[in-house]
Amino acid sequence: MQGIKDSQLIKLASYIDGNWFQSDNRFAVINPANQQVVAEVADAGIEETQAAVVAAKKALPAWSKKSANERAALMRKWFNLMMEHQDDLGRLLTLEQGKPLAEAKGEIAYGAAFIDWFAEEGKRVYGDTIPAPANDKRILVIKQPVGVVASITPWNFPNAMIARKAAAALAAGCTFVARPSPLTPLSALAMAELAERAGIPAGVFNIVVGEDAVGMGKVLTQHPDVAKFTFTGSTAVGKILLAQCATSVKKVSMELGGNAPFIVFDDADIDAAVQGALISKYRNAGQTCVCTNRIFVQRNVAEAFTQKFAAAVANLNVGDGLGDGVTVGPMISKTAVDNVLKLVDDTVSSGGTIISGGQRSALGESFLAPVIVTGVTNEMPLARNEIFGPVTPIITFDSEDEVIAMANDTEYGLAAYFYARDIGRIFRVGEGLEFGMVGVNEGIISNAAAPFGGVKQSGNGREGSKYGLDDYLEIKYLCLGGLDK
Ligand code: SIN
Repeated sequence: MQGIKDSQLIKLASYIDGNWFQSDNRFAVINPANQQVVAEVADAGIEETQAAVVAAKKALPAWSKKSANERAALMRKWFNLMMEHQDDLGRLLTLEQGKPLAEAKGEIAYGAAFIDWFAEEGKRVYGDTIPAPANDKRILVIKQPVGVVASITPWNFPNAMIARKAAAALAAGCTFVARPSPLTPLSALAMAELAERAGIPAGVFNIVVGEDAVGMGKVLTQHPDVAKFTFTGSTAVGKILLAQCATSVKKVSMELGGNAPFIVFDDADIDAAVQGALISKYRNAGQTCVCTNRIFVQRNVAEAFTQKFAAAVANLNVGDGLGDGVTVGPMISKTAVDNVLKLVDDTVSSGGTIISGGQRSALGESFLAPVIVTGVTNEMPLARNEIFGPVTPIITFDSEDEVIAMANDTEYGLAAYFYARDIGRIFRVGEGLEFGMVGVNEGIISNAAAPFGGVKQSGNGREGSKYGLDDYLEIKYLCLGGLDK
């Protein structure tokens, strides 16, 4: 495979209980930049997913009984190996996912950072003592691992979405079964190879790759030995998985869709706002759930902002993620391009005006040059739907109250951004936005130390930060009685 130095990182089969599962049934992994087959991977299904859960259950007692320091030492090795192989892992990620190589390497560092962070945070799982209502009693609170954790993760961050969940789970003393997207299984399998090299025991970290989304999903959400289920993906699929989890009342965390507003007030540093909007919108070709979805600009700075933003967008370099200087890679598929262009067409039919891009790219069927649409209102399709592509609708507004109301007028509540300098406004708007994460004069908000997650139909639970560990721990209360002489 093109340019991968350590060929042992290329794994073509699921990793279950420390073994690589082989099968004659295989599915193809396609490079979205050129539609070529990158690899053919053994297709696991229901049986293998069940076997992975059983393996995770078997490995749980020994893993959960290790001290936090012992777990941290193994995780630290895993982190170091990921960083040592950052170039290879980045290249593999670009080949299967499409994002520019520099961005792919950035994702490896981002994913590894969760392993590093949680390895340390696992040492700080503190309990509590609570004053008891009677003298002969003591109340102690301890935190224990929830048990076997199952996850389903998407193609847009083939490394980091698994790392973010697995790191917290393993640090808490849980064992883990991951089902990555079959569009991007290679990054996940390379992580398993490095986990094995780090000495993470068999059964603690399992990866099942296969195309049977429904069958495998049912095992992961309904198996009685899975204690917790965690998902990153669309709100529509999240609702189905949540309903499946309800049958056995699993602990869940859901990181679902978004419709991020990006608000530029008239007291903002316009150049900084342009840079913030650019990075927040065009990261991963607009295919992240925290990507800016709607830009709101105050009317008296709308022209200045739009001109500068359009000039910056014109400088983006669209191409194969492995190409020199490429800043925007392909979208994941032709279907993804079609869906986004349909939203653009529908918005233009409702009165929006394309001022940049909008045509299919000569680079190939999965490419779409960045599109900017002005004259948009908050009711038009580009503002109502999660775009998940390199398209920016621009909406103008007059007052702070009006823009907060428009920003909040969505069923989603994941990320929001605004640029302003007035300190009173910063607090009013920051507190008024109904979103789990708000970037204030900042377009990139994701990092291992911060609690990532949303409100409303963007999901529940938090990933990363000290709060991220709580999702993998149960609180137990011990009531000690009969302590009188
Ligand atoms: C996502 O798109 O699901 C995650 C984005 C991030 O971690 O920044």
